[in-house]
Amino acid sequence: MLSLTNLESYYGRSRALNGISLEIEPQRITGIAGRNGTGKTTLLKTIMGLTDAARGSIRLNGQDISALPTHRRARSGIAYVPQGRGIIPEFTIRENIVMGAFANRAGRRGIPDLVPELFPYLAANLDRPGGVLSGGQQQQLAIARALAAEPDVVLLDEPNEGIQPSIVEEIERVILRLSREFGLTVILVEQNIGFLRRAASRFAMLEKGRVVESGPIADLTDAVVDRHMTI
Ligand SMILES: Nc1ncnc2c1ncn2[C@@H]1O[C@H](COP(=O)(O)OP(=O)(O)OP(=O)(O)O)[C@@H](O)[C@H]1O
Ligand SMILES: [Mg+2]
Repeated sequence: MLSLTNLESYYGRSRALNGISLEIEPQRITGIAGRNGTGKTTLLKTIMGLTDAARGSIRLNGQDISALPTHRRARSGIAYVPQGRGIIPEFTIRENIVMGAFANRAGRRGIPDLVPELFPYLAANLDRPGGVLSGGQQQQLAIARALAAEPDVVLLDEPNEGIQPSIVEEIERVILRLSREFGLTVILVEQNIGFLRRAASRFAMLEKGRVVESGPIADLTDAVVDRHMTI
């Protein structure tokens, strides 16, 4: 239902994606891996229309969204949880979550039902500022904000980066539930190969803005990881 064909993407005149084609399996997790600077974040940004220029097609449920501005891509059902989370520290937890609701196709502007279900702590502290949360809680908040759009597809960029091990497990559990229990399609950029192997049904390994290996997750062997991820 989401398919990417020959994506190229640019920052100014410099090309960061060099022709990426991928079929994203609906209601499953597709893992994106690769060394630093290989274009993982750029791939997610390109899907959202957040780079300077792009070529190629991005088809969502048969419709080519590659000419749409970012807010319309969001309204077509794709939510983005950026690397570094991008929450607003001065806004309350509630305000941060509700920001994501601008893209809600049913016009619901409140706290989505999934928030108390997945993040009871956030639901119990809606009036506290986002800035007082720990890194892991801020990551949960960024996911909650994405869910306020009630999206079909969620793009997650290194959700476990810089987060305490105790909370990593909780976030992993949420990501698994998003696909397995709630039927969302997830594209997950993740450096933790162990988690990718547990979570994803398919993967793509990037190098220099290209897909160098892809396929069912069983094909993400130690040899593939050694070849493309060790420094
Ligand atoms: N805003 C920008 N302006 C110019 N070049 C950029 C910009 N953002 C990224 N790049 C370049 O594009 C390439 C891909 O970067 P990208 O951030 O997509 O990599 P990444 O795989 O997400 O890396 P990391 O693992 O460090 O998050 C790199 O060469 C990077 O220097
Ligand atoms: Mg990145």
